[in-house]
Amino acid sequence: MQITIALTKGRILEETLPLLAQAGIEPTEDISRSRKLVFETSLSDVRLLVLRGSDVPTYVQFGAADLGVSGKDTLLEHGGDGLYEPLDLGIARCRMMTAGIAGEPPRQGRIRVATKYVNIARRFYAEQGRQADIIKLYGAMELAPIMALADEIVDIVDTGNTLKANGLESRETIADISSRLIVNKAAMKVKHVQLQGIIDSLRQAVAR
Ligand code: PRP
Ligand code: MG
Repeated sequence: MQITIALTKGRILEETLPLLAQAGIEPTEDISRSRKLVFETSLSDVRLLVLRGSDVPTYVQFGAADLGVSGKDTLLEHGGDGLYEPLDLGIARCRMMTAGIAGEPPRQGRIRVATKYVNIARRFYAEQGRQADIIKLYGAMELAPIMALADEIVDIVDTGNTLKANGLESRETIADISSRLIVNKAAMKVKHVQLQGIIDSLRQAVAR
């Protein structure tokens, strides 16, 4: 049976390809130099899709892809319906954090929070018992506190350089983030032998 693996361009792809190669799965052409979105591999029954990161869980949830590699940030935002998450690939590590203007005490009472991760933010502030109006942005969240659009942001922090360069400081950690292997639940039953084989090979590659 044909196996389809959903990936995303950029850092996750660069760090996932060596793991796939150790599992015997290598694209037959250079993905980063192509405009194509579907790629054949060294295994005739395995193909790769190159998607927007936020679309990977959707493809796997609905079974349009059997496997996917997705950041935990994207998974927390999307929700886990129809998915198993059998393996932490340990790549693209960072943290999901709140941040605000450096040196300013966190505002008490109802606050405004700008983020691309509205579900994560809503859940986090609700769990804290803090009232927060969430404002959806699509990027450059760091600008929101500076321009008084929001009191805080929720975003991923890696080196912390972007916060620092914009006069912000991190406040609370919401989650540790890394890339995860995800599997369609129904495919895991129907294509069990093939998928379990790939999962086991990837687990060994991660452990090396
Ligand atoms: C990401 C993230 C932060 C930054 C964190 O932004 O949203 O802004 O990287 O990395 P750092 O802690 O090492 O500075 P990205 O550049 O991917 O762009 P976007 O937010 O506009 O999608
Ligand atoms: Mg950013």
